[in-house]
Amino acid sequence: MAFPSISFVFLCFFCFSFLNEPRLSLADHVLYTDEILMPGQNLTNGPYLLAMHHNCRLVLYNNTQPSWSTNATANGNSDCYLVLTQRGELVVRRSVHYALWSSGARSKKGKYALVLDAKGRIAIYGHRRWSTSNPNGLGGPEDLAIEEPATEYVLQSGHRMLAGDKLKYKEYELAFWRCNLVINHTRSGRWLWQTNTKVTQGPAGCYLQLESSGELSVKNGAQRLWSSNKRTDSGLHLAVLRFDGRLAVYGPLVWSNVRMDDSIVADAVTYGGSEYI
Ligand SMILES: *[C@@H]1O[C@H](CO)[C@@H](O)[C@H](O)[C@H]1NC(C)=O
Ligand SMILES: *[C@@H]1O[C@H](CO)[C@@H](O)[C@H](O)[C@H]1NC(C)=O
Ligand SMILES: *[C@@H]1O[C@H](CO)[C@@H](O)[C@H](O)[C@H]1NC(C)=O
Ligand SMILES: *[C@@H]1O[C@H](CO)[C@@H](O)[C@H](O)[C@H]1NC(C)=O
Repeated sequence: MAFPSISFVFLCFFCFSFLNEPRLSLADHVLYTDEILMPGQNLTNGPYLLAMHHNCRLVLYNNTQPSWSTNATANGNSDCYLVLTQRGELVVRRSVHYALWSSGARSKKGKYALVLDAKGRIAIYGHRRWSTSNPNGLGGPEDLAIEEPATEYVLQSGHRMLAGDKLKYKEYELAFWRCNLVINHTRSGRWLWQTNTKVTQGPAGCYLQLESSGELSVKNGAQRLWSSNKRTDSGLHLAVLRFDGRLAVYGPLVWSNVRMDDSIVADAVTYGGSEYI
């Protein structure tokens, strides 16, 4: 029998060709649609860790104390993985197809994002509603730079990113240059995208705000200087500075492991890296 191995390879290529073993590194806290978390891999945000174990259990830890977990296990098996599907469903699969656990909430086909946030909650947002139009990363092997995303790269709706703040993912940085909102490739110093906003008169107190409608805007005081012009259903949204150097908006919330407060006090909360509703 010379063929089984070939058909096995073909089968597995077929099964996994749409999945991406992630470019996850230490302190990554976002998983995107079609990315998988293999046994031994994890998402990390401060003291919080979401780990996929070899016994197929997905466990959320707070400082090494388990705080939430899926209960289905498979003894002696480590052919399991966690995937975020195009329907915004989180599934622990075993033996390629068999679903051992699922978040259960299936939504419209699209691109979703699973986030382990700074409060230790896991939540799925989507589908993706808007994205900046800059080219997809800069290419080249340097993109695998080992620089770790030690900083926040997610802005939640109801929060603001003030002029002195930034979102940073590896070599990409979203920051204000005066009142111009810029995605900076810090290794080359090149600006990949910008809003071209400026304030010609009076004092400038510019900030980026994500509304509960999913609309992203640059404001100076009450004056709107720029908008993504993309509104969706009201609810919790996220703006994420992605691994490819794009800023994208996902939402509203489709699932979370705990009850999330949907009430948004848009003007009361200021983004400060760890200040959440
Ligand atoms: C989490 O993942 C990182 C990077 O892959 C790894 O170095 C670390 O040991 C993992 N931690 C745990 C507790 O699994
Ligand atoms: C995590 O643990 C710390 C104490 O170790 C506690 O103060 C904090 O509230 C916990 N976080 C959650 C989300 O329960
Ligand atoms: C796992 O079991 C515990 C204890 O019975 C339960 O509290 C928890 O909700 C279960 N986890 C899930 C994800 O269903
Ligand atoms: C872009 O990154 C370069 C290199 O780190 C830095 O010198 C420059 O100030 C940054 N530009 C902005 C607008 O943040």
